[in-house]
Amino acid sequence: MKLSLQEPSLKKISGVLALPVLDGKLHSHSLAKKVDQALGGLLSSFIKKTEFKGRVAEVENIATHGKIGAFQVLLVGLGKGKKLEADDLRRAAAASAKAAERLKSAKLYSALSLIDHDWKPEELAQILAEGTVLSTYRFDKFKGKKDPKSHLAGVEFLLSAIKEKAAFARGLKLGQVGAEGALYARDLVNTPSHNKPPEVLGLEAKKLKGVRTRVWKHQEIKKMGMGALYGVGMGSTRHPPVFIEMHYKPKTKAKKTIAVVGKGITFDSGGLSLKPPKYMETMKDDMAGAAAVLGLMKILPQLNPKVEVYGYISSAENMPGGGAQRPGDVVKAYNGKTIEVLNTDAEGRLALADALSYIGKHRKVDYIIDMATLTGAALVALGDLVTAALGTDEALIKKIQKAGDFTGEKVWELPLEERYWEDFKSEVADMRNIGGLYAGTINGALFLKQFVPEKTKWVHLDIAGPSWANKPWTYCPVGGTGIMVRTLARLLEDF
Ligand code: BES
Ligand code: ZN
Ligand code: ZN
Repeated sequence: MKLSLQEPSLKKISGVLALPVLDGKLHSHSLAKKVDQALGGLLSSFIKKTEFKGRVAEVENIATHGKIGAFQVLLVGLGKGKKLEADDLRRAAAASAKAAERLKSAKLYSALSLIDHDWKPEELAQILAEGTVLSTYRFDKFKGKKDPKSHLAGVEFLLSAIKEKAAFARGLKLGQVGAEGALYARDLVNTPSHNKPPEVLGLEAKKLKGVRTRVWKHQEIKKMGMGALYGVGMGSTRHPPVFIEMHYKPKTKAKKTIAVVGKGITFDSGGLSLKPPKYMETMKDDMAGAAAVLGLMKILPQLNPKVEVYGYISSAENMPGGGAQRPGDVVKAYNGKTIEVLNTDAEGRLALADALSYIGKHRKVDYIIDMATLTGAALVALGDLVTAALGTDEALIKKIQKAGDFTGEKVWELPLEERYWEDFKSEVADMRNIGGLYAGTINGALFLKQFVPEKTKWVHLDIAGPSWANKPWTYCPVGGTGIMVRTLARLLEDF
């Protein structure tokens, strides 16, 4: 998809033209007035007389019968009597692009870029680009009958302020690259587990350009002492675990070093603590943390933030095969601590324990952010739209939250209540892998904390809910959402 800029001259517009409707009125820009005039007042009378309310992302298309260059005009709602949020605009951009696709137009001219707003020009452009690119997502690789092909090859955003042009173009690029990273993550999540075992995630990491990658295979994982990750992988007779490190170094001197860590369980059957069938249906999604890390590492060389970034993935298939670890088994993590595995379905924390320990032993980083579909309890607490954040650095949590408010990926902090740690006490090992009955999401984070290198600022993001869309959203169909790629990209942009 080609995104570009053009002056709002009626003569230069063909294909489909999108005009914003704000507060129930055609947004009064000279271009909108000209179009309405050329159509004999059709647009304003349509808004006045029909059911069209101009709700956010509501779109109505109106034929122009050759009266202007564009063959259709889209009236695109931006809501009524409310503050315009970034996600409203993102959805409006997405709905416009989807309408242009339905009309089989190769070109969309969008006047959404002409609205009055409080964002920086770069931010407005980023939001519009994100909505546009994210809306085009299809996952039909495994369908015999493919989804209808899109004819939409480009979107021209109309811009009159020449002085904003450079900033706007930068924003379009940021938005497009970020969205493409998220779409890559969606693809990885939506891919059936059969087609993305741990070794395939390793190959994906090796394909990334501008990033140095190392992949440890299962014998090495065992030999180097990553007993927790190795234990999770033992139940899979076909697909052994891998540990992945990726490294992005900016061209200029880095201000800070950060590690992002993803849970990469390519399928979570629960292991011998087997899940009931209903709970297993979406468990190909249990590598969404890893997908977010891959999506981010893929786009970093294009975004070029001044931060050094290490990406880590602990990947295994959690299966109940003959070699599987048993409830009651004791494994030794990379930092030497022993864990009594009482529930083999609490495997994500085991896999991540070794990645976190590895960082502590071999790398000096200022921050660690881990992302994991760690607990069903996160869904109970916050539903499928909000990410749970827990950690040791309030400022970093706030920063992630702020970035998420911009990208439309909501984040909410839960308390890291230390007293719950008492329930992890084991009679035979340093700790058990499960805690008390309640506060499952806090428990998961408390377990991870045991492996976070001391004095390193750390935030854990439990994305069990928002990594998967149960209902479609304007710019995301049911399935993998590609959560956190755009939010972390935004975070690193001005870290
Ligand atoms: N992958 C699951 C968590 C999950 C559940 C993700 C639903 C997405 C949707 C995780 O490995 C798991 O099974 N966690 C257990 C932990 C428990 C045994 C302490 C859970 O949440 O029940
Ligand atoms: Zn599990
Ligand atoms: Zn899991």
